[in-house]
Amino acid sequence: MKRIALLGATGSIGRQAIEIVEAHPGLELCAAASGSSPLDDVDAPLKQVGGDLTELLERAQPDVVLNAVVGFAGIHATLWALERGVDLALANKESLVAGGELALAARNRGGGRLLPVDSEHSALFQLLEGRGLEQVHSLVLTGSGGPFRGRTRDELADVTVEQALAHPTWRMGPKITVDSATLANKGLELIEAHFLFGLPYERIEVVLQPTSIVHSLVRLRDGATLAHLGYPDMRVPISYALTYPERAETPLAPLDLTSLTLQFAAPDLATFPLLALAREAGEKGGTYPCAFNAANEVAAAAFLAGRLPFLAIAEAVADALAHADGAPARDVEELLEADAAARRLVEQGLSVA
Ligand SMILES: NC(=O)c1ccc[n+]([C@@H]2O[C@H](COP(=O)([O-])OP(=O)(O)OC[C@H]3O[C@@H](n4cnc5c(N)ncnc54)[C@H](OP(=O)(O)O)[C@@H]3O)[C@@H](O)[C@H]2O)c1
Repeated sequence: MKRIALLGATGSIGRQAIEIVEAHPGLELCAAASGSSPLDDVDAPLKQVGGDLTELLERAQPDVVLNAVVGFAGIHATLWALERGVDLALANKESLVAGGELALAARNRGGGRLLPVDSEHSALFQLLEGRGLEQVHSLVLTGSGGPFRGRTRDELADVTVEQALAHPTWRMGPKITVDSATLANKGLELIEAHFLFGLPYERIEVVLQPTSIVHSLVRLRDGATLAHLGYPDMRVPISYALTYPERAETPLAPLDLTSLTLQFAAPDLATFPLLALAREAGEKGGTYPCAFNAANEVAAAAFLAGRLPFLAIAEAVADALAHADGAPARDVEELLEADAAARRLVEQGLSVA
């Protein structure tokens, strides 16, 4: 029996994870946590609403931590699992983006597995399994392009929260859905892929695939390109991470190949500048990715609260990055400081506006 601690049990990933665990006789929840929503309908021996997630993990001593918290708030749980060699099924990409170096150092000390839940990274993980990186030419991350793909900047000036939340292919929590509309999500995923797979940024490409059937691709040095296909349904990568290295059945129908349209397009970096800003932050390294993430979290939340227009999200992040010092974080305290500094920069801008 694998004992799973589910952090973010009330969210989009959390609910789907509960479905997977309930359907699998070899999995059980040993702990569940949320930020503020009640957990009355979640069946787990240990439950915690708010508070320090690592205290819950200490009590639960799980075999796997599924970190499905949204945002940088997941950082301590990510580091806790990696430091102790407990398998980490990671949906909370923000913790790896912000704390990549610290997280990888903790994994090297702890020796546990880091299993991506993000669908693109789960696809890349599967495509790369058992393959030396010397065979790999580059990684290709795919993205749908979000609800505003094809629009001009002028057409984005007055978009509403409701329009931004109408994602064409995925049903997800509000923060990641806004990030998908701005392409900040693809930027976070680019940095996440760099830390997960150890390739330099110039060898990680981003391509739009509007129907979200191709979850990512690997180009090999001999000219072959491998692709991972499937319906856009997070239960597959959640199930894969929780049952790894096995593969369990899921309720999904087999892919109907004759009904598919598979078109690809380059992302529009001028209209959606957050993807290029993320690449720049990743290439600069240090705490620039942390600042990118923190600024984006504050700006996306302000957009969701009706305090910032859509196009101002990228402007706020660019401004925060221009003022960040980017010095590498030697420990988690320095990382928390870098995160707080970037948040302050955006919040100051919001209070002036
Ligand atoms: N949804 C997807 O399809 C998808 C796909 C790929 C990756 N991801 C990633 O998975 C993560 C979760 O996304 P989501 O869409 O599931 O978000 P969501 O629906 O907004 O759910 C977020 C969850 O995190 C909990 N939470 C927030 N702050 C917390 C804290 N301080 N301590 C404990 N729990 C806290 C929330 O609890 P409350 O209900 O109490 O607020 C909720 O259970 C994100 O990092 C996202 O980027 C999601």
